[in-house]
Amino acid sequence: MDKFIVRGGTPLKGKIRVSGSKNSALPILAATLLTPEPCVIHRVPDLSDVRYMLDILRHLGASVDYTDGTVRVCAAKVHSEAPYDLVRKMRASICVLGPLVARCGKATVSLPGGCVIGDRPIDIHLRGLQGLGAEVETNEGNVIVNAEKGLTGAEIYLGGKFGSTVLGTDNVMMAATAARGTTVIESAACEPEVKDLADFLVKMGAKIEGHGGSRVTIHGVPGLHGAEHTVIPDRIEAGTFIIAGLITGGDLTLEQINNDHLENVLGHLTAAGAFFERGVDTLRVTAGEGLKPLNLVTEVYPGFPTDMQAQFSALLTVVPGLSAITEKIFPARTMHLSELKRMGANIDLEGSTSIIRGVPHLSAAPVMASDLRASAALVIAGLAARGATEVNRVYHIDRGYEHIDQKLRNVGANIERVKEA
Ligand code: EPU
Repeated sequence: MDKFIVRGGTPLKGKIRVSGSKNSALPILAATLLTPEPCVIHRVPDLSDVRYMLDILRHLGASVDYTDGTVRVCAAKVHSEAPYDLVRKMRASICVLGPLVARCGKATVSLPGGCVIGDRPIDIHLRGLQGLGAEVETNEGNVIVNAEKGLTGAEIYLGGKFGSTVLGTDNVMMAATAARGTTVIESAACEPEVKDLADFLVKMGAKIEGHGGSRVTIHGVPGLHGAEHTVIPDRIEAGTFIIAGLITGGDLTLEQINNDHLENVLGHLTAAGAFFERGVDTLRVTAGEGLKPLNLVTEVYPGFPTDMQAQFSALLTVVPGLSAITEKIFPARTMHLSELKRMGANIDLEGSTSIIRGVPHLSAAPVMASDLRASAALVIAGLAARGATEVNRVYHIDRGYEHIDQKLRNVGANIERVKEA
């Protein structure tokens, strides 16, 4: 298991090219199962989660080539069973369910377990597929979906007690492309990654309207064809580097990003006193004269993203004054807080609200990465801390950040990857 040694105190300066979005790339790769024709996907980030997804596609019968960020997939023939030993490695593998049901009329996919950010049910995904006429049963840890007589378009409500569901919307949207008639998804997720998937599906011949909004209409078609697509920039990777730049008092320019997708994050940081210069697809970030505390609540897009909660927590530990962050999407996504406390942060957790009192500085400590964004938060904290922070279990960060250590070193960070057997 690799670890990072991060020596804090160097302001990050220079340019970082942002990668393609993980959370777009994964469902888009799953969508290639919808057609027997070849698909070409560009700007696919080199991440362990992407490699798991490519393994799943291969297991399901597709031929896959991944070279220099471009994936070529041809799922000429597919079979409908995704086994536990592949699915368990990555929760997002559940997004093969919709394409398999559409393509094969049935699917058996191992139920993904919970993870450290909390319970991760798929009840809404299943409710949506049932709404399209599929029969669903769970047996021995598998979810078995049967629609051998075909799917039928319907009005489907996909809201839940935590709001809309990203991968649930993806699954139902993909399945509905093959349904007879028209499907209307109410309370669809509006995340840019869902829209990116829909844009790819439209290139494949799907008839979709309203994607990117909360009401999505899908007119079923007899079949989809091959298509070529470039994945959108990773807004969470961009947001993570913005926070890294700010906590070190640096001067960073992010390249190949979409500023519109970052509107909420940039709004909060501007209110806190950060400076941004927006270009067409670039963003320059400077800290200004010290930052002010913030009061944040995570929400579905276009609200403040849960995937930025941990990184903001790290930043606010050294912002003078009292900040608060309430986690409403994954209320148990708080594992990073106790690790930040080991580095000297002053944080109290009340329910799912963390109350953060800014301290003058953090101190290095050995810390444990528990999930993807928590690991990013610990690296960010390490970049600001006094001394050498040891971040263990960085395989979590490799799931979702392409070459993060190299990218940070390129802008002056003192971060070293230590390989361990
Ligand atoms: N939920 C249910 N039932 C369901 C599905 C979701 O109750 O059937 C609940 C979840 O437990 C959660 C909320 O609804 O409380 C939202 O979950 P959602 O389904 O939107 O999450 P997801 O689709 O499984 C994606 C991202 C996550 C990101 C969330 C929220 C991918 C591969 N993953 O997960 O990304 O946090 O949306 O935006 O797209 C990450 O990148 O670090 C990450 C965890």
